[in-house]
Amino acid sequence: IIHPLILCGGSGTRLWPLSRKSYPKQFARITGAQSLFQASALRLSGVEFAPPMIATGADFRFIVTEQLAACEIAPAAVLIEPEGRNTAPAILAAALILQEQHPGALMLAAPSDHVISDTNAFRATVQAAIPAARSGDLITFGIRPDRAETGYGWLELTAALGAGDAPVPQPLKRFVEKPDATTAQAMLDGGRHLWNAGIFLFSTEALIAAFAQHQPEMLATTRNAVSTATRDLGFTRLDPAAWGQLEDISIDYAVMEKAEQISVVPYSGGWSDLGGWEAVWRHGGPDADGIVTHGPTTAIDCTNTLLRAESADQQLVGIGLEDIIAIAMPDAVLVAHKDRAQDVRLAVQHLKDAG
Ligand code: GDD
Ligand code: MG
Repeated sequence: IIHPLILCGGSGTRLWPLSRKSYPKQFARITGAQSLFQASALRLSGVEFAPPMIATGADFRFIVTEQLAACEIAPAAVLIEPEGRNTAPAILAAALILQEQHPGALMLAAPSDHVISDTNAFRATVQAAIPAARSGDLITFGIRPDRAETGYGWLELTAALGAGDAPVPQPLKRFVEKPDATTAQAMLDGGRHLWNAGIFLFSTEALIAAFAQHQPEMLATTRNAVSTATRDLGFTRLDPAAWGQLEDISIDYAVMEKAEQISVVPYSGGWSDLGGWEAVWRHGGPDADGIVTHGPTTAIDCTNTLLRAESADQQLVGIGLEDIIAIAMPDAVLVAHKDRAQDVRLAVQHLKDAG
């Protein structure tokens, strides 16, 4: 059986103004009737999975419990991080807790900002990875790249990619997190790299051993935060004093770029990280003119444009737009060039600084 850990403590600033500090993107309904978080939880429930562990921030704890209840999922634990320290401490804390309860258990750490179109293919790929995970490998799932994306991690394989994407574990040669544009283009052209899907399968023992080797201080501090955690209302609140001492770093930089025993399992059942508006536009299935709309909108003579109106009584009209992202919320409007969509996080920082 696999114990899922769903990470949903991120702030999702690049999807402002839909994603807000108090209600980040993973809890918003971006596509379809469920939030991305709910879709992630449903994808990881079923006979082959134990009830999920959830790791999130204090501000989101009731959104988490409400959204889980709405899809009839009872979590094994909801871990509350006193402050966001990125994914490395969150995954480690969950692994330490699971290791106490079920020594050597298999954990699947999954983000909550993904769209995965074929749940059955995804589950079959995870199943195919179990033997390698049991033997102590850290498993990452690889997606065939179609552009020189700098927002992802890239996985270098020892051999060139074949024609197929069979879910067969392969040794990882090198892990490169968020490369610059030139490096990304070279990796795309070389044909020996997959994108890191950001979903990891491992035995708790193997993960803790990797932290012992590469992040011994973080391991010691996280152990403290776990051993002095308090429980209230079904939440497990990690100790704030210990947590405050932790470095803010993702699992990719903290461990994956350094670890030796990593296997890549290719996954080809449709995957998208809705990291920014450009990705939402792409996922929305642009028509022949490249237009994607949502809500009460009208696009006249537009090309390669996303128009999104979030309330039923507010019309959004675009005329003669090219490569534009326009998002209308009742209290905020974003208009941006599509090539600059990643810079929305700068605008959010600016608004924050301006108070
Ligand atoms: N609990 C918790 N605490 N969750 C967090 C925190 C935190 O402090 N920070 C981020 N998360 C959650 C986010 O909500 C998201 O679901 C997930 O962890 C991943 O964080 P992102 O910030 O979205 O990472 P990324 O997209 O930049 O990069 C990762 O995913 C890519 C693919 O989607 C990396 O693993 C890349 O290598 C990978 O390609
Ligand atoms: Mg992401």
